[in-house]
Amino acid sequence: MNYNKMTVDDLAAKGRRVLVRCDFNVPQDDSGNITDDKRIRESLPTIRALIEQGARVILCSHLGRPKGEFNMKYSLAPVAKRLSELLEKEVVLAGDVIGEDAKAKTAALKDGEVCLLENVRFHAEEEKNDSDFAKSLALMADFYVNDAFGTAHRAHASTAGVANFLPAVCGYLIKKEIDIMGRALSDPKRPFVAILGGSKVSDKIGVINHLLDLVDIIIIGGAMAYTFLKSWGGNIGASRCEDDRLEYAREMIIKAKEKKVNLLLPIDHVCARAFSPDAEAVTFTSVSTCTGIEDGWMGLDIGPLTRTLYDKHIKDAGTVVWNGPMGVFEFDRFAEGTRAVALSLAESGAVTIIGGGDSAAAVEQLGFADRMSHISTGGGASLEFLEGLELPGIACLNDK
Ligand code: 3PG
Repeated sequence: MNYNKMTVDDLAAKGRRVLVRCDFNVPQDDSGNITDDKRIRESLPTIRALIEQGARVILCSHLGRPKGEFNMKYSLAPVAKRLSELLEKEVVLAGDVIGEDAKAKTAALKDGEVCLLENVRFHAEEEKNDSDFAKSLALMADFYVNDAFGTAHRAHASTAGVANFLPAVCGYLIKKEIDIMGRALSDPKRPFVAILGGSKVSDKIGVINHLLDLVDIIIIGGAMAYTFLKSWGGNIGASRCEDDRLEYAREMIIKAKEKKVNLLLPIDHVCARAFSPDAEAVTFTSVSTCTGIEDGWMGLDIGPLTRTLYDKHIKDAGTVVWNGPMGVFEFDRFAEGTRAVALSLAESGAVTIIGGGDSAAAVEQLGFADRMSHISTGGGASLEFLEGLELPGIACLNDK
């Protein structure tokens, strides 16, 4: 895939209307308060640059999954408020996406002013990448900027379709994400270590397969480690396992051996009898690749020996890419493995890249965010990028 895309720097935006697709899909509490505004903060450089150029800035985004219907719960009103605080400037919120209010408010914009359209997913046409809907969005603007890295893996009207009707460039956030992650994949400082965790092998199939061609070491943690261990004859007790992926896991172990990639699996496990934050925790140690988890116990975190083993490889690495927690880090008692790996990354001299989603949340929650080289704003998007897949929201942009 060609990542050499035109950017906002290539636009003569003064006095022109610029439609900017951001990913303002931010977490909120029950009262609608934004609990993590990282995605909003990360969109500021592009928005500020356009304001400084004197563009008339029209922002759009989705929030949640409102299933094609207007629903106040998914309104972008809290985002407009937070954005205007951060920009120290009024952000006008349109009451609709392509309706009369949006048309009136975007037409009334003066140079350097900003309007945010309502949630694009209030229209079912958005996710269907409907051409008429994309055209209606495009009619409000002269240029299109995609800066929604977190949604770049979706071929939707506002992330890809609209580029059929307007000159289309990328914003600084997308550029930063593809530059940093692209460089890590194409020209990594070695040893290149990938740490993959999370619960399901099935979510990571493409990534594991692709990374085995690129990395020197793959470190596996999280519940998916048990599918790997069982595939190699280990006793995993009552641990979570995807039996329909055993063959695939086994193939990946064999592929790693053939490629001379060091594939590391946990050698000890913090286990419980129940999936509960207060469950009694007992550590079982593996012998060789066969785990010694007793019947009735489930692995919920990597154990202390594994943390030490992983720490050594992370500290010696030149580049580390991490996607997926090592255990059930939402439960304090089973968060130590994820915390230890985050600390190893923080203390490593390596280029450290955190794929978004759960691992990004873990690093933020554990207080290590400012010690990482890069934390991606995309969960699914960064995973597909690491898989080597073409992201429609980037492929649609004009090449340099
Ligand atoms: C995300 O949070 O991963 C992006 O905003 C995409 O959201 P989606 O999975 O609902 O398309």
